[in-house]
Amino acid sequence: MENISLLLNRDLFGSEENRGKVMPIHEAKTLLDDWVKNEKLKVHMKQVGHLMKAFAISKGYSEEIIDKWYLAGLLHDADWDQWPDQHCRKIIEELESKAIDPEIIRAIASHGPRYFGVEPKSEMDKMLYAFDELSGFVHAYSLMRPEGYTGMEVKGVKKRLKDKTFAAQVSREDIQDASERAEIPVDDLIQFVIGNQADADLT
Ligand SMILES: [Fe+2]
Ligand SMILES: [Fe+2]
Repeated sequence: MENISLLLNRDLFGSEENRGKVMPIHEAKTLLDDWVKNEKLKVHMKQVGHLMKAFAISKGYSEEIIDKWYLAGLLHDADWDQWPDQHCRKIIEELESKAIDPEIIRAIASHGPRYFGVEPKSEMDKMLYAFDELSGFVHAYSLMRPEGYTGMEVKGVKKRLKDKTFAAQVSREDIQDASERAEIPVDDLIQFVIGNQADADLT
């Protein structure tokens, strides 16, 4: 993987005329079932989708906007399972061909600025980037705790973050960078993930 460039080399995604065009949730879930065979990856996408939705709800956004946030989270890694060398180009092109809202496509395109070369600009872009790594990290922590999410505390998560051998593939640098870009302290992001992730609908 290290030798493959995932740079997208562009900064415009989707088309303005498709603004407001959201994929029905059942269609997005069918796409996930078709493209993603790895159950753990599916759980990850549903958890990130749930966090995005919960965050949009906490901000008091409209139903339409909440759906956009949810879809960006739900679909952000859809191509990772079968086409890792085309991540996230393939899902972007799929959503462009289906004339989906450009904001959803852009958020997906900017979920890993170091890899895709696309800067997170909107609040939705920044929160997808922020929740992505942290969600997986907190989930990994929940799996090693006998009580799962129950009684989990921010300080416990932070202790694991300092332990570089725990969930070593999760980039601590990206977590810090995403928190700075979103202008939300890492502690607050962790608290939000702890408080919301256990309720994610994994169906
Ligand atoms: Fe990804
Ligand atoms: Fe992800």
